[in-house]
Amino acid sequence: MKTVYLQLDEQHIDAVALHALKEAGNALANGALVAFPTETVYGLGGMAFDKEAAKKIYAAKGRPSDNPLIVHVAATEDVKRLAKDIPDVFYRLADAFWPGPLTCVLHKQNEVPYETTGGLDTVAVRFPSLTIAQELIKASGGFVAAPSANLSGRPSPTTAAHCKEDLDGRVDYIIDGGSAVLGIESTVLDLTGEEPVILRPGFITGEMLQDVLGRSVVTSSGMDEKDPRAPKAPGMKYRHYAPNGTLLVVTGEADAVAKEICARLKQDKEQGLRTGVICGETKKARYEADRVVTFPEKDAPRALSKMLFFALREMDAFGIDAIYAEGVSEEGVGAAVMNRLVKAAGQTVIHV
Ligand code: TXA
Ligand code: MG
Repeated sequence: MKTVYLQLDEQHIDAVALHALKEAGNALANGALVAFPTETVYGLGGMAFDKEAAKKIYAAKGRPSDNPLIVHVAATEDVKRLAKDIPDVFYRLADAFWPGPLTCVLHKQNEVPYETTGGLDTVAVRFPSLTIAQELIKASGGFVAAPSANLSGRPSPTTAAHCKEDLDGRVDYIIDGGSAVLGIESTVLDLTGEEPVILRPGFITGEMLQDVLGRSVVTSSGMDEKDPRAPKAPGMKYRHYAPNGTLLVVTGEADAVAKEICARLKQDKEQGLRTGVICGETKKARYEADRVVTFPEKDAPRALSKMLFFALREMDAFGIDAIYAEGVSEEGVGAAVMNRLVKAAGQTVIHV
């Protein structure tokens, strides 16, 4: 298949851009796959009510089909077509955070195919904030199932170039809307139980949810086999975001972290490995590595969230064998950033 590329500017959606989005939306409605930008990461869209489209998404990504897809809408009231027994808290959260990087898991309507929900009786719903995404969803009829637009296991795509790397020739359209503003995926919140549970941390933090709900919100690790809630977040059990090289996360006091990474870089060099570091910009000069990707410490962890997936893909592009990343504070969005970083590292973290 030949992939069609559309280049659009989120800040200037004029009549020509709308026409292009209509074309891609019509293609979606007719069963095509379309990669598109959102504020979090790029998504790979197909029609949510069409089980063949869902199967095509899994095939294009090489994704296990028990890993459910998020259905994207462009209006809060459309959620009624997807979900039933919707609790009041959902509407309070939608009022506060939609459109935006919050995904809610609800009981699905019968019409939503199991192919889309990975065999579950629940459905994950999200209303993304980019105009490009919203206009595409509307043009297609309103309900777009979309996982992140990467090959399964690879870092999520934050640019159209990343989508091209993974999906060129495997999807019908790739819409380029520039770099994703947030850079990590939405918070996934389960609203089907007695109490709301965060299944995947994201930009909308537990504290932000608590402020709106007036009650505490727990986070399920999703990784713990003994955790009875683990099967509720099927995506969390797979290896994720992994670069080709081995990644080690080092946490602790800044100087001790730098010392530890330097010692390891030296050993790697002696073995002839190509090395890379992801670190705060003031530390750059301390590391002798083949590739160093930095983020401004004063804005960490927010700054790292924006460039983490980009940095991991950079390491692959430069053929790096051994990658070291400085850990960041787990406060606020830091919890989500460290969640992705630690997963990308296959849980190999050392504290110095
Ligand atoms: O920001 C995002 O959420 C991006 C953009 C494209 O919207 N999408 C995204 O999709 O990250 P994906 O498929 O890569 O991750 C969806 C996550 C997975 O961990 C999946 O297991 C979980 O959401 N999920 C989806 N439906 C679910 C359901 N019914 N119950 C529990 N977890 C669900
Ligand atoms: Mg994903």
